[in-house]
Amino acid sequence: MQEIIALADITQFRSRSEEFNPYDWYRNKLQNEPISYNEATNTWNVFRYDDVKRVLSDYEYFSSVRTRTTISVGADNDEGRGNDKINTINADPPEHRKRRSLLSAAFTPRSLKLWEPRIHEVVRQLLDEMGDAPVIDVVKDFTGALPVIVMADLLGVPSKDRLLFKEWVDTLFLPYNKDKAAEIGELKRKAATEYYTYLFPYIVQKRSQLGDDIISDLIQADVEGERFTDDEIVRTTMFLLGAGVETTSHLLANSFYSFLYDNDQIYGEVRANRELVPNTVEEMLRYRFNISKMDRTVKQDNNVLGVDLKKGDVVVAWMSAANMDEQVFEAPFTVNIHRPNAKRHLTFGNGPHFCMGAPLARLEANIGLELFMDYFEMIEPVPGFQLEENLTPSAAGQGLVSLPVRVKRA
Ligand code: HEM
Repeated sequence: MQEIIALADITQFRSRSEEFNPYDWYRNKLQNEPISYNEATNTWNVFRYDDVKRVLSDYEYFSSVRTRTTISVGADNDEGRGNDKINTINADPPEHRKRRSLLSAAFTPRSLKLWEPRIHEVVRQLLDEMGDAPVIDVVKDFTGALPVIVMADLLGVPSKDRLLFKEWVDTLFLPYNKDKAAEIGELKRKAATEYYTYLFPYIVQKRSQLGDDIISDLIQADVEGERFTDDEIVRTTMFLLGAGVETTSHLLANSFYSFLYDNDQIYGEVRANRELVPNTVEEMLRYRFNISKMDRTVKQDNNVLGVDLKKGDVVVAWMSAANMDEQVFEAPFTVNIHRPNAKRHLTFGNGPHFCMGAPLARLEANIGLELFMDYFEMIEPVPGFQLEENLTPSAAGQGLVSLPVRVKRA
């Protein structure tokens, strides 16, 4: 078992909203403590763009093989255990390359082309289900549901079971909470067992009836004679869900928050000029994916960042802070959907571990926003919305549980 490092002991945010808007903290760290040691957690913390990039990508000095980490996902029973063959997150090259090649069976360029119309269909269905209400909850009705339904569909799970699937995924990826660790652990074990028991027979069945879905691609994956067993495929899907569902929901929900509360001109401008959608998504990844960070363990004593790091030290690289580095981004603390270099953000990581799901996340966000704009001419905040009460801890930081929006249909 890995020891979990509580990020709250590093950030010391005083409220959920402060964590959701951590800009002052990042500004202060970038200016005054760009590389600092945190005693409470025994970690080094790195904030500037070039340093973050180095920590993420230079695996000779900074390893992904760790005993202490800030990542806590999945369950700790047998059914919740990962599949070591594809566990890219905990490996360095050359082992990492082999695992990543095997996992890439789930992300072929051919698949992405096939997935586009299916994502359209899922988005349309969610939008249709909203009916004619003058106020919608864009998180409950849309951004919270979209990524898990898309993943269930891409895995080849029958659509009637999508909601069941969503419940398991929501439970499995509940964030670490010191005070409720035992209770949450039990819920996760139960969800992992149910998920495993549900999915296993589908995989057995798929072997004789291959289709255009991720499970069929994983069944056929073959890297130098390495193939997956049914058991390993269930575990692989769990890993993909862990990596891809909450992150993408967070991106979409926060984009709507930004359109309502950061700058209320964006929605109308982008709706009138859809060519702006892709760069708007990149700017949201830069500015509004507000708590992207990843840890590495020092592999050998070094001074490459200008401080003495010892073998075994844990270094937390704060990508969301690096996205605010004014050496790279002009006026970084302002949302600017026309920013020419928005795509240089580090939200998807950097180097050998660069997010394998980035093309899928981008596709979902682009299609999700575009179709939403087809349906809704105008969006407005609902007076009296209290941010603090509508946030909850999630693996990606503070996540919105609800975001009511007054809408006018097109
Ligand atoms: C890796 C972020 C969506 C699958 C990563 C990493 C980051 C990241 C920062 C690098 C980890 C590291 O350096 O150790 C995000 C964000 C997303 C997103 C911000 C959405 C906005 C997805 C989706 C999937 C996915 C939709 C798949 C369904 C993966 C996988 C890796 C990964 C498999 C491991 C790559 C490796 O270790 O080589 N992601 N991700 N991600 N992501 Fe994503």
